[in-house]
Amino acid sequence: GDAVKLPSYDWSFEGVFGTYDKASMQRGLQVYKDVCSGCHSLDLVAMRNLLDLGYNVDEVKAFAADYTVEDGPNDEGEMFERAGKPSDHFPAPFANEKAAAASNGGKAPPDLSLMAKARVGGPSYIRALLTGYVDAPEDVDVGNLSYNTYFPGHLIGMAAPLSEDAVEYSDGTPASVDQMATDVSHFLMWAAEPKLEARKQTGIKVMIFLIIFTLVMYAAKRKVFAKVH
Ligand code: HEM
Repeated sequence: GDAVKLPSYDWSFEGVFGTYDKASMQRGLQVYKDVCSGCHSLDLVAMRNLLDLGYNVDEVKAFAADYTVEDGPNDEGEMFERAGKPSDHFPAPFANEKAAAASNGGKAPPDLSLMAKARVGGPSYIRALLTGYVDAPEDVDVGNLSYNTYFPGHLIGMAAPLSEDAVEYSDGTPASVDQMATDVSHFLMWAAEPKLEARKQTGIKVMIFLIIFTLVMYAAKRKVFAKVH
């Protein structure tokens, strides 16, 4: 089949004690905003969720206010535009699926909210995909598609979205394709599983509780049965 082995990457959020890397997520947000959001929606993420990335309330308010969102209907039954608020979700780039497909050679760019969970390999797949554009083998006619090592079937309707310095990172990190691919994949993992850290912490607490509980019950059992022969 087409299954190509994904390059492995050592994500900070993997493992029992894994946590998100806020600096990487902030850079990933920049990549999403400056590059991906031109085609891909992120419907499930509200601006206020960006507090998780380490921004403060004022920063989130300012970030949201940069967007113009459609609201309404008002008392006159009309739709109107206003500045974004932290409770708003990221606005979609296209009005609907049909418009999205029409603008992209017939293939609609999928929503990215749960993408890091929807594909085998998750964030490692997204990272590989974004860095996986190569020249097609000579016998392959790509037509208006692009050739990607990691896309199932290889012919993808998304042209390579990243090129060196496509974004200018506000923390000064050099924006290589690899760096941007890694950061936006990290960001999308958070988008798909914002409660990952809390879930892992709960798991650790449960394990500690069970270990202590087992020791207590063992001691109790020894005591209760001490005189039974
Ligand atoms: C598909 C990510 C930028 C257009 C996809 C897929 C992912 C993705 C994960 C799904 C691949 C699959 O189905 O397995 C991203 C990221 C971007 C980005 C992270 C920013 C770094 C863009 C841009 C455009 C675009 C700027 C439009 C110019 C599309 C289209 C598809 C797609 C049309 C559907 C391709 C197909 O099914 O053949 N993208 N994308 N993407 N993307 Fe993007």
